[in-house]
Amino acid sequence: VDLIDTKQGMRKWRQRVLGNVALVPTMGDFHEGHFSLVRAAREAADTVVVSLFVNPTQFGPHEDYTRYPRDLDRDAALARAEGVDCLFAPAAAEMYPTDHETYVYWPRLGSLLCGMTRPTHFRGVATVVLKLFNIVRPHQATFGRKDGQQVILIQRMVEDLDLPVEVMICPTVRDPDGLAVSSRNRYLSMSDRSQAVGLYFALSAAKHAIERGERRSDRLKEIMEQTVAAYSALSVEYVEIVARGTLEATDSIDEDTMIAVAVGVGSTRLIDNLWVVQGKKGLQVEL
Ligand code: PAF
Repeated sequence: VDLIDTKQGMRKWRQRVLGNVALVPTMGDFHEGHFSLVRAAREAADTVVVSLFVNPTQFGPHEDYTRYPRDLDRDAALARAEGVDCLFAPAAAEMYPTDHETYVYWPRLGSLLCGMTRPTHFRGVATVVLKLFNIVRPHQATFGRKDGQQVILIQRMVEDLDLPVEVMICPTVRDPDGLAVSSRNRYLSMSDRSQAVGLYFALSAAKHAIERGERRSDRLKEIMEQTVAAYSALSVEYVEIVARGTLEATDSIDEDTMIAVAVGVGSTRLIDNLWVVQGKKGLQVEL
């Protein structure tokens, strides 16, 4: 794996590459979720670039920017083992010189769901993803469905700004008990970790209800809230049933529905979601 830490170095490297390039944007601390994105990128393209950048502009003032896990040597070794061609790991001052001023954002979509408690988060995501697209110039970029609102917003940016990038959405990777893998799971104490799985059980309960024919959003919300209530360490931030196109709440589910949940466990915030899609025999749930 080639390790590059400047924008100019990345541009030069990119110029020499022939064929399709897929980008896997990450904040490092690689886990199975990242590896699944790398494998999808590898299937789609000849060359795989992984960016590793803990993006300061997507963290709020009291969030975990400084304590977010960072271990470049470990991540570089893992990237090498996964057959990544290039690891682009710039420092914050390289990506954001002191005179940086331009931001892109979604005034409506970015203020809903996670945007309610993280008002500047998606503006930071949009800005850094657009910068990464411009520096790496990928044909494809892979994102995990676990960050459901994020992938929906990035798809919208690609459409609205006519970006020549194909967004690939990869399934959520889960621990054996069902908890979605995330770097933030590291923050959980042992007892909080055992409670965190309640987030997955809430979505599983909704999945089973949908598979039994339930279509009403209020019933599904009730089922999820009842499930979460059995886990005393979980405090619900939101349980929302929305249309993926607009992120507006809907009364009943259809093939465009996302059910998104955010909870607090101790001082850690966890999110997860399921998508309802059209299957061969009617509605199908991707969890
Ligand atoms: O999902 C993430 O890890 C980040 O939000 C991303 C897309 C790498 C942008 O910093």
